[in-house]
Amino acid sequence: MQILPGPKVPSTIQVLNWIFRPMSYLRECAKNYGELFALKLQSNLPPILFVHSPEAMQQVLSNDHKELEAPGDLNSIFEYLLGKNSVISLSGKNHQRQRQLIMPPFHGERMRNYAELIESITTKTINKQPKNQPFNIRNVSQEITLQIMMEAVFGIYEGEQADKLRNLLCEIIEQSSVPWRVSFLYFPKLKDVIGISELWKQQIKKQEKADQLIYQEIQERRKNFDPQRTDILTLLMSSRDEDGQPMNDEELRDELMTLLFAGHETTATAISWAFYWIHKLPEVREKLLAELDSLGENPDSNTIFKLPYLTAVCNETLRIYPVAMLTFPRKVKTPISICGHQLEPGTVIMGSIYLTHQREDIYPEPQKFNPERFIERQFSPYEFIPFGGGSRRCIGLAFAQMEMKLILAKVLKTWSMQLVDTQEIQPQRRGLVTGPNGPINLVIENLRQPASVKLEKATV
Ligand code: HEM
Repeated sequence: MQILPGPKVPSTIQVLNWIFRPMSYLRECAKNYGELFALKLQSNLPPILFVHSPEAMQQVLSNDHKELEAPGDLNSIFEYLLGKNSVISLSGKNHQRQRQLIMPPFHGERMRNYAELIESITTKTINKQPKNQPFNIRNVSQEITLQIMMEAVFGIYEGEQADKLRNLLCEIIEQSSVPWRVSFLYFPKLKDVIGISELWKQQIKKQEKADQLIYQEIQERRKNFDPQRTDILTLLMSSRDEDGQPMNDEELRDELMTLLFAGHETTATAISWAFYWIHKLPEVREKLLAELDSLGENPDSNTIFKLPYLTAVCNETLRIYPVAMLTFPRKVKTPISICGHQLEPGTVIMGSIYLTHQREDIYPEPQKFNPERFIERQFSPYEFIPFGGGSRRCIGLAFAQMEMKLILAKVLKTWSMQLVDTQEIQPQRRGLVTGPNGPINLVIENLRQPASVKLEKATV
């Protein structure tokens, strides 16, 4: 058996590093062991390999179904929340079928249906923030993206049921983001520890209550099916697989939870980081405002989506601290050589999105927030890879990018805000993804008018 590069300290120490300081640990390992390294994250299982060069990323991600596969059972950590029909926990043909059923609502044209909704939810939510009083932009971004999920995905708007479901979903997601929840993956017996087992039971109860409400909604929608509705639940209900079969209630529930879980916090985090950088770096803010103001008062969403500097700011935000540190795991099916190492069937490999985005050879001064790099050159899909790639590439990629751009444009054009604290905010683990290690406090100073309007007034 070939010895793979990687730390030789006991597995428990590797796991603790991985849970509590994942990004610096990844950086240290890349520095010490190079393009491929192995971490022993479970004492009874073989080590997991991490790769980060664009060549290895391409080999690992574009090879699904040939020498490698992307089996859903390796994502079983999500099953307690997303159910066994979630696209995330399915493999092979079942995975392909489920992706086919979910993808239609996420195609370009359909996305435009949601632009107006995103803008109006953003306006309503920001209008509620008191002027001159600091607020954590992360909480506001989460409120906006959760409401977008409720309306665009679930098709649920106002009322008591909507409030109940929103609150439950919010609590469930918040609880699954704390680091100790990730510890269950590596130390399953923790669930039996008194105190933690109580919290676990509470979490399950909340999920059962949320499920009841979701099934109720599905049943009502089936009874009064309205094909004119544009929410994603309606589109999923109309979707048919190759054999003409629709999704059953359980599949619909699992996919709704999957879209919410995969799409709400990830996007809210990315938006919060974007606000942080824009307000931390005055030159970035000025340039972005000049671009947005050049569009006049009510720019159309398509024009906003294509703005070059806004796109560069969003890309740099997703590059510097990618919300997902890793791609989903891939497993070797038939022997394959990666980074000069011959890998045996059964070996599990993950692409480290974070390390790829931190490579000096692709991104000079990688710790510097520099949107210009995305204007000066184009990066290949294996150099810039915030949404993964291959057969498990993020389904919500276009939706997330549209949310980011429309929310940023709306807020920046309408309100003038300042960052309250000047200290550096760093990324840290939040469950299986990453997020800021402290509040990003902003304060609304003024309603601002676009420069073009000011100019017109000045010449009258
Ligand atoms: C900034 C926001 C987001 C980021 C950074 C992100 C990132 C990712 C990444 C890295 C993967 C794994 C890809 C791989 O292993 O190759 C993934 C998968 C997935 N994402 Fe996203 N995502 C975001 C937003 C969304 C949204 C808005 C939705 C839906 C509304 C969504 C739904 C999904 C689903 C369903 C999968 C699983 C695909 C599969 O297993 O086939 N994501 N995402």
